[in-house]
Amino acid sequence: GGQPVPPAIKDTSSKLVNDKAHPWFPLAPGQQRGPCPGLNTLASHGYLPRSGVASPGQIVTAVQEGFNMAWDLATLVTYGAFLVDGNPLTNLMSIGSTSRLTGPAPPKPALVSGLSTHGTFEGDASMTRSDAFLGDNHSFNETLFDQLVQISKEVGGGKYNVSAAAEVRFQRFQDSVARNPTFNFANPRFATAFVETIFPLAFFIDGRDKSLALDLDVMRGFFKDSRMPHDFHRREGAFEGGGDEFDIIQSSHNYFPGFNNGTVNNFVPDPNFLGTQTEEICALYEKFVNTTMELYPNPQGALRKALNVNLDNFFIPVSSGCTQLHPFP
Ligand code: HEM
Ligand code: MG
Repeated sequence: GGQPVPPAIKDTSSKLVNDKAHPWFPLAPGQQRGPCPGLNTLASHGYLPRSGVASPGQIVTAVQEGFNMAWDLATLVTYGAFLVDGNPLTNLMSIGSTSRLTGPAPPKPALVSGLSTHGTFEGDASMTRSDAFLGDNHSFNETLFDQLVQISKEVGGGKYNVSAAAEVRFQRFQDSVARNPTFNFANPRFATAFVETIFPLAFFIDGRDKSLALDLDVMRGFFKDSRMPHDFHRREGAFEGGGDEFDIIQSSHNYFPGFNNGTVNNFVPDPNFLGTQTEEICALYEKFVNTTMELYPNPQGALRKALNVNLDNFFIPVSSGCTQLHPFP
């Protein structure tokens, strides 16, 4: 069942994280990775179970330890994902596709199908993974990475920097508008798609390097092989998300939350983007709560209790600005 969120780490200084205790190993039979290069890398270095199946508490601790993701951001992202893709009964989630290792699942329509599940958290127009409608939404895609390399050469001086991130984001957006009739760029994807373009700058650049420009071979190592470079030091200080880079990238083109309305090149605004909320962050919170309600129409007993613990955990990082929702009173 549900467990409390583990505490924030105390020391957020930069330090060697590709250390003797966390060697990289290639995938062994039965282990799996998914759409997130951050979690994939943590699993391949043993900060998470190498199987690719972990508890939300293990994820919150690992992303802080390995990459200095701030506790609030880690808690928000982890419990949002866990509510829709994880197993509340066993407190385990696959960072890839469905796994036997997550244990006996609650009844359908619960999914318990891991982070590769399309449409719950994983979404369209990812940088290095295809849209689910067009192909494999979780494996590294060489063609897409080559495009990212090309853009980084054209506008980033040969590295992945904020300018390259902005153009990669736009190119991936345009590609989905043009080729994916089911393209969805509404809540929560409208937030995560932008955050994820900043994550490589925030987390994959060595803490001793203040350039805000990521070497493309290092980037490939994380995205393709789930591997930190030799001697890799995590960033200095916790990263809370948002910030100048987010605004620069989101305002670099005329984006609005929406979707292709059944055919390609037919991108229309989502009239229900904010749900019943006025703040974007609260709308994102509400969206995950609503999805949880759809997956668990009438939970009872231990299941209901576990869901409520995880819903409480998910609310903590937004508690100062949003009102808590109680789908299972
Ligand atoms: C993408 C989950 C932390 C880096 C994703 C996706 C999921 C996910 C489901 C797929 C979204 C999509 O592109 O369709 C999570 C969860 C985390 C977490 C639950 C728990 C805190 C991190 C961390 C990093 C990271 C710590 C970096 C160190 C990325 C990047 C992408 C991504 C760069 C975009 C991949 C791409 O567009 O090709 N994450 N993530 N994530 N994640 Fe994570
Ligand atoms: Mg995706």
